[in-house]
Amino acid sequence: MNDATKDPAKAKRAPPKLTMMPTEDVGPPLVEIDGLWTKFGKTVVHQDLNLEIYKGEILSIVGGSGTGKTVLLRQMLGLEHPTRGTVKVFGEDISAAGADQLRAMRNHWGMLFQQGALYSALTVFDNIAQPMRELRALPEDVIHDAVLLKMTMVGLGVEHAYKMPADLSGGMIKRASLARALALEPQLLFLDEPTAGLDPDLSDAFVALIHSLHRELGLTVVMVTHDLDTLFALSTRIAVLAEKHVIAIGPTRDVLAVDHPFIKQFFLGARGQRALEVLDEHDEEVRQHEEDVQQQEQEQKMQQDRLAHERQDAPPDQAVPPEHAPENR
Ligand SMILES: Nc1ncnc2c1ncn2[C@@H]1O[C@H](COP(=O)(O)OP(=O)(O)OP(=O)(O)O)[C@@H](O)[C@H]1O
Ligand SMILES: [Mg+2]
Repeated sequence: MNDATKDPAKAKRAPPKLTMMPTEDVGPPLVEIDGLWTKFGKTVVHQDLNLEIYKGEILSIVGGSGTGKTVLLRQMLGLEHPTRGTVKVFGEDISAAGADQLRAMRNHWGMLFQQGALYSALTVFDNIAQPMRELRALPEDVIHDAVLLKMTMVGLGVEHAYKMPADLSGGMIKRASLARALALEPQLLFLDEPTAGLDPDLSDAFVALIHSLHRELGLTVVMVTHDLDTLFALSTRIAVLAEKHVIAIGPTRDVLAVDHPFIKQFFLGARGQRALEVLDEHDEEVRQHEEDVQQQEQEQKMQQDRLAHERQDAPPDQAVPPEHAPENR
């Protein structure tokens, strides 16, 4: 692994290698959307939309404003129901799930809403504690430790625990919201525009944080973002929402190669070109890193072979039996 995961600045310049491809080895999808239609009055937002999300991926959903990305996330959480079609999460049909089943599912996912959405009347501490209090019958001292741990995990100083949301900066609100989304140690994390409104440094730091959480906790992440840097830095696959359904899905480069006006406009404008150059640079860094690792392995092997030969060639009276070698005494 290169340093990108440790250094927020590098994380932006050097996205993680796109390793996750949905194959049969990854098991059944964690989220499975089939033939989904969403209508609000006469307005059709989604039309025959299909999407599968697999364990361990960071799937990013992109699309123009108002194409129904947030609505789609809310449907995955059972907060809204499609007009037609099914949304299965952890193999269960969300629309058919009863209150108890939905509650059980909520124990395994976390959501960071587009607007941060902390309860304004609750302190940071109580906001983060809220899912633990609502969904788990945990003693208060356990909740206390868990809240402080989550705050530390997202890089939010524990001295901010008793502040009200109105007294936090934008970056701190995002971090507190992420701490709340992680409160129940979810398998599945939904992020709606996690870096929107953050300045570039905070945005880089947030990307590095999501990247390390994904790597360390093995989270599956479903993210909506307009920010190309965030998109390229984190996504293992990208799903493009246009014409009311998913018009392209796959690793970044495969999606970029799709000939569609929205894809051209979204990815290949001036911003996209800059981000693409970054992706090229990163591919070169990954290639170079792999070459270095290979070379080191070869050198190590050669050295081991040389030592083995020297031992064989040594005269018997000089050969030291391993049990008498100084390091084994
Ligand atoms: N409860 C609702 N009633 C009526 N229309 C709605 C409702 N919720 C969403 N919509 C409409 O559905 C469309 C999709 O909304 P959504 O918020 O999912 O867009 P989005 O892709 O997330 O956009 P953005 O990128 O701006 O966040 C919009 O036209 C919105 O006005
Ligand atoms: Mg939205």
